[in-house]
Amino acid sequence: MRRKKILLLILVCACYSGIVAQQKTELVLNTKAKGVPIQSTMYGLFFEDINMGADGGLYAELVKNRSFDFPQELLGWYTFGNVTLLKENGPFKNNPAYLKLSAPSHAHKRTGIENEGFRGMGFKKDSLYRFSVWARTEDGASQKLRINLIDTHGAIIGHQDLPVDSKDWKKYQVTVKANATVNKGRLRVFLASRGAVYLDHVSLFPEATWKNRENGLRRDMVQALYDLKPGVFRFPGGCIVEGTEIEERYDWKKSVGPVENRSLNANRWQHTFEHRFYPDYYQTYGLGFYEFFLLSEDLGAEPLPVVNVGLACQYQNDSAHCSVPMDELEPFIQDALDLIEFANGSVSTKWGKLRAEMGHPASFNLKFLGVGNEQWGPQYVARLAAFEKALRAKHPGIKIIGSSGPSADGKEFDYLWPEMKKLKVDLVDEHYYKDPKWFLNNADRYDTYDRKGPAVFAGEYACHVPGRANNFMSALYEGAFMTGLERNADIVHMSTYAPLLAHVEGWQWRPDMIWFDNLHVMKTPNYYIQQLYAKNRGTHTASLLADKKPLTGQNDLYASAVYDASDKAYILKIANTGNAPKIIQVRLQGLPKKAVVSVGECSALQSDHLDAVNSLEEPDHLKPQKVSAVYDKGVLTIQLDKQSFGVYRLRV
Ligand code: AHR
Repeated sequence: MRRKKILLLILVCACYSGIVAQQKTELVLNTKAKGVPIQSTMYGLFFEDINMGADGGLYAELVKNRSFDFPQELLGWYTFGNVTLLKENGPFKNNPAYLKLSAPSHAHKRTGIENEGFRGMGFKKDSLYRFSVWARTEDGASQKLRINLIDTHGAIIGHQDLPVDSKDWKKYQVTVKANATVNKGRLRVFLASRGAVYLDHVSLFPEATWKNRENGLRRDMVQALYDLKPGVFRFPGGCIVEGTEIEERYDWKKSVGPVENRSLNANRWQHTFEHRFYPDYYQTYGLGFYEFFLLSEDLGAEPLPVVNVGLACQYQNDSAHCSVPMDELEPFIQDALDLIEFANGSVSTKWGKLRAEMGHPASFNLKFLGVGNEQWGPQYVARLAAFEKALRAKHPGIKIIGSSGPSADGKEFDYLWPEMKKLKVDLVDEHYYKDPKWFLNNADRYDTYDRKGPAVFAGEYACHVPGRANNFMSALYEGAFMTGLERNADIVHMSTYAPLLAHVEGWQWRPDMIWFDNLHVMKTPNYYIQQLYAKNRGTHTASLLADKKPLTGQNDLYASAVYDASDKAYILKIANTGNAPKIIQVRLQGLPKKAVVSVGECSALQSDHLDAVNSLEEPDHLKPQKVSAVYDKGVLTIQLDKQSFGVYRLRV
């Protein structure tokens, strides 16, 4: 009690003495006004295989081009000795290429292959790596493969022998321990006997994947996603859904079933930017739709798949060349219906059976479907209408998400919103990659939105500062803007920052929420803003006003509040984008006389430098810190640092 009084005294003195020139802002938190429920999907994730997000990223496979089926068959491989590439009679129909390793010309020579990984392979000292390969011998006589993990300088840091003893194709597996930590290792496989061995699907995973799954995901990266407490998970894109050409769209059916037989696809981001193109960037679909549904379940997030609507990327094709004719749309619609069956159908259905065979007989309980990514124009509207008709007829419970185009304003946006209303989609996906000023100016964007129309899904957004760094300014401004999402949670039902992941040596687009290399993960300040919101989502909106108006930039301040019924707490979020500290006094209006109020955990993200960043070398430079606030006689007093975003919890 004494401590509280002293703290309050300090705050009030600071406020009035003029020692620190701080302005006081008074807010009213109305505890009587009943708020509306906040959707569990309010804050979530959007994942796309851009920036090496899947292969070389979240998907823990260390071998690039493991099936030799890249168009340049040996891309990523270095061969030595007597190696032949074959394509007939291999074990996997959809990935026909495989290799034959034959004895070299001399007993003191060797035949083998080395894989460079995705910008190298990350190995951790004393960790185990699961090597597997499909193989056969010529005649059934036993042969031997030797498996080496190699460090940056070519030294062997792990090895195992693997006997191959059948003339029929079989999967062989062995565990190799790394005796050193390297960020850019390689895998070597060579013939350690005098016969011949045929090889396909050469694979290497860390044993310690997320939940130790064999076809697993990188544990440290999933942990970072898990810690975000996402309520919804949008997948697989993004432009990936559309493809540069329609044949290269994300075809979910190619991404399920045995992993060895999932056919390779191009990656829409492979050649997009001439200053950042990667000829070795493909989609193996190792992280496919089954893995996506499973991960959504692990994360406790509602899965939100996006399906192709019969349009190739509208950025990359003119309108005459991007669309599937209306009378050829049926297979695309069927794909969407089948995807719902794959997620939810009983095990007696064709696609439900496949889900069960893959290991998940229970339904994934899919509730949402994005139809088209960032589409626009009448071509989109016509196709969406056809999809909607079929989807509503067969799955009336599934909520349909339509697009409002590539930008959250302008011609396409103004055309599409009324069309979405006419079609009565459930949610409209808005995308905004905008400059800092836009983010501040749009903190009140949803205050005046039509309450009768479809709900809003802020499906892709990020504040783009000059140079597009993930700096503190971008995070702070996103935090300020998001007070407007929260205040309007009656119509904003979902939001997902974009893009999610980026490999430091393989990115095409920035800013991105999480950066990584082969061994480490770096959370940006933008990540922490998302996390502060998601962890403090609350269950109901609450009214927080300054002079009877929402705080949307007056005196460089932005604020919103929620009520959390499970914790019986009000949670306030306040951003100060100005370069002076502020005193905030929040009066709790309408509290019952006997109410006992206490300050719970409060934290803030702050920096004196708007251009401050986290890096792989200094990942914790910017991180939320605990802060204090004082409650006394119905008033919460907060000392808000300059350039800060704070979250304050008041238990009532
Ligand atoms: O997030 C990167 C890209 O931005 C997405 O693929 C696309 O939907 C948008 O244009």
